[in-house]
Amino acid sequence: MLLSMPDPFSLEGRTAIVTGGSRGIGYAIAEAFIARGGRVIITARGEEALQDAARRLGANCLASRCDNGDPADIARMMADAWRLGPVDVLVNNAGISPFYKRAEQVTVEEFDSVVQVNLRGTYFCAVEFAKRCFEAARPGAIVNISSAGGITPLDRLGVYGATKAGIHLMTKSMALEWVDRSVRVNAIAPGWTETEFTDGLFASRWGDILKSHVPMGRFAAPEDVTGAAIYFASEASRYVTGTILPVDGGRTLR
Ligand SMILES: NC(=O)c1ccc[n+]([C@@H]2O[C@H](COP(=O)([O-])OP(=O)(O)OC[C@H]3O[C@@H](n4cnc5c(N)ncnc54)[C@H](O)[C@@H]3O)[C@@H](O)[C@H]2O)c1
Repeated sequence: MLLSMPDPFSLEGRTAIVTGGSRGIGYAIAEAFIARGGRVIITARGEEALQDAARRLGANCLASRCDNGDPADIARMMADAWRLGPVDVLVNNAGISPFYKRAEQVTVEEFDSVVQVNLRGTYFCAVEFAKRCFEAARPGAIVNISSAGGITPLDRLGVYGATKAGIHLMTKSMALEWVDRSVRVNAIAPGWTETEFTDGLFASRWGDILKSHVPMGRFAAPEDVTGAAIYFASEASRYVTGTILPVDGGRTLR
């Protein structure tokens, strides 16, 4: 019985991979999972920042360098992780947004660079994780980190928004296809969140304008996203799959 469980939100005994876990939202999720009893493998591209983050997260954290833009590296990382033992949760968080440009200014190379990490990387991380859940006949929970920008458009972030909207449909189609194998797939769509990803933008003249569009009147802290991640990763959401949960201070209501 769910309600008679001591804590349906516990992650005791669960292992999670958090991609892009060296900083920002991914780091906050890794920290929150460990605080609820979980073990975490964080991945990122830059070795030094990754090792430093793993040290700060402590004994229940391992680091595995991985470039989400490279499907072969994703397959290698996932095989390495499962060699250590079964993995219960994948937080598909790594993402980039390297430019602010109107649609007609975006080059093919720029377009491909965002799609490769945000869309293709998220897709194949999910596939490599799910295949191993099937082989091991174990349930799994995938938590995709998309964006409120995949729900309502953001000026000069059209390619980024398209990849995040793509993650939403990917979340629903994978949820449907894998429901019979007990792999749940859900997505969190954060609104503007204070991380290194956004600090230049928030410090610019756009900062106050963007904030004024958030009904709650403030940007999110990375920690604001962690409650939803714990929910989707734990037994508390065991009957939930294929959902997109905005964590955006009400931004997409407008
Ligand atoms: N900050 C925001 O306002 C905001 C809002 C909505 C959604 N998001 C999404 O949340 C996620 C995390 O964002 P953040 O603000 O913490 O960003 P961040 O830039 O602070 O952190 C991104 C993380 O992803 C990793 N990463 C980047 N490229 C990678 C690659 N090719 N391979 C592996 N790892 C890679 C980085 O090393 C880092 O650990 C992203 O998917 C982003 O799109 C952020």
